[in-house]
Amino acid sequence: MDTKLIQKVSESFAKSFSSEPVLIYSPGRINIIGEHTDYNAGFVFPAAIDKGIVAAIQKSESGQSTAIAIDMNETYQFDTTNLDTENLSSWHAYVVGVVAETQKLGKTVGNFDIVFGGNIPDGAGMSSSAALENSVVFGINTLFDLGLTKYEMILISQAAEHNYVGVKCGIMDQYASMFGIKNSALLLDCRTAQAEPFTIDFKDYQLLLFNTNVKHKLSDSAYNDRRAVCEKTAELLGIDALRDATEADLEKVKDQLSAEDFQKVVYVVQENNRAQAAAVAMKKGDLVELGQLIYGSHNGLQHQYKVSCDELDFLVDLAKENSDILGARMMGGGFGGCTINLIKKTAVADFKETAVAAYTEKFGHACSPYEVALSDGTNLI
Ligand code: GLA
Repeated sequence: MDTKLIQKVSESFAKSFSSEPVLIYSPGRINIIGEHTDYNAGFVFPAAIDKGIVAAIQKSESGQSTAIAIDMNETYQFDTTNLDTENLSSWHAYVVGVVAETQKLGKTVGNFDIVFGGNIPDGAGMSSSAALENSVVFGINTLFDLGLTKYEMILISQAAEHNYVGVKCGIMDQYASMFGIKNSALLLDCRTAQAEPFTIDFKDYQLLLFNTNVKHKLSDSAYNDRRAVCEKTAELLGIDALRDATEADLEKVKDQLSAEDFQKVVYVVQENNRAQAAAVAMKKGDLVELGQLIYGSHNGLQHQYKVSCDELDFLVDLAKENSDILGARMMGGGFGGCTINLIKKTAVADFKETAVAAYTEKFGHACSPYEVALSDGTNLI
């Protein structure tokens, strides 16, 4: 737990408000494998991490709510009894969106003050947005005794993202952030919302992230487009979601899809198989196999699903040249953010240095290595 961040958020709250706040930690997530499978009712393999959002929150008696984002040094005011959901920009949409979705369930949300800050860079593909949404919903659930279950809370967070942020995301990020288990990754079946926890101990190996420090425009619309292709194909097949399709099934509707869209849905079916195969490999302790599946995932994301970018591909190609790295791939929605690498512990320091140098030379700005610990989900501090 980042005690400095907790202190910073608490102090900022004390400066602006006179009450004693409830403090919440809500983590970001990584994902070992299973990308763009969640909204196809498939399998994903995420874990909550020790980086995320700290929020201080308390009821407000002033007749309005105040939200302060300390990292951006911005304040936003609203009234929960007369919520204006038009023209919400940037982070306001996450906060107000969560309140609006909670109210849609018939819950009474009073006014509140919230101060939050984080230690995951925005756009890093580590789900700072899900962390923020979960901290808000967890906070108001606690303050106003709303009696929401954790599962109801993540559905609220997801709906806020759909309806106020405009990204038709799956449930992976919100789930991992809320239900994370220390030292574990969760093999989540996105259809049943049941997860099998895997204690992660890669022995001589570990996970290492590199943030490309880029987030390309259009990533949100490209995300929604991909989802639409998947849903359209499922409809053509007369099934609920691509989770239920095999590659042979896809052949039956091939002539009704463009060649590009066909590749996209093939990717989804293959990635869903890879995620399940990864679980088998992990149970056997077969890290070489796991690494191959991770490389396969990137290959599909790059060439079939087409959600990668030069910066991500460059880092994965560098990893492939290094025999101490068993697997690497882009992580999250794509078009920027992080790569995740399965690397020998003794090779970490070296690879950090060489990758940052090569990347900087190529792109004129640095990438940032991150080592993360797997943490519990959203909780009271
Ligand atoms: C984003 C979304 C998730 C998931 C990933 C891709 O992080 O929020 O729901 O679809 O992209 O796997």
